[in-house]
Amino acid sequence: MDDMTDRAEPRWRQDFPVRWDEDHYMTRRELARFLTLGSGLLAGVSGLIAVIGLTRKLPTPAPQRIAGVNDVAPGGSLLFRYPTPDDPCILVRDASGRFDAFSQVCTHLSCAVVHAPEGGALACPCHKGAFSARDGEPMAGPPTRRLPRIAIETRGDDLVATGIEV
Ligand code: FES
Repeated sequence: MDDMTDRAEPRWRQDFPVRWDEDHYMTRRELARFLTLGSGLLAGVSGLIAVIGLTRKLPTPAPQRIAGVNDVAPGGSLLFRYPTPDDPCILVRDASGRFDAFSQVCTHLSCAVVHAPEGGALACPCHKGAFSARDGEPMAGPPTRRLPRIAIETRGDDLVATGIEV
């Protein structure tokens, strides 16, 4: 009789025997409970990370002298680094004498923008992007985010960078 049973079972079943009666099943209810608890846990952790990110204050960089007020002629510009030597920035002065400063790093793919005074712009040569030299908003090309503004103050005859407005 044993011989008959062996012949009736396919070969793969003999090689990979599955004992259904010994297997441990997970019911639909258990699966749904597991998925609900897992999703709830993920949502909670995401919320906690978001709260930490929103409430954590970045340290304000120390004020740093950029240049003298008379170092940049109207319509001119000057490159500087702030808050660290690895952060290139650009100071522009329009024809009326107003100063504005921005990060020099294009918000598209991080090329360095240059002053284009004839268009009142900061131009990015990589993909023909352009930003307003007055408020840093994108004017042309692929960039969609404005340039971070560098807050500046006039202290006596000096222009001083006092922070970054992202
Ligand atoms: S990197 Fe500036 S436009 Fe692409």
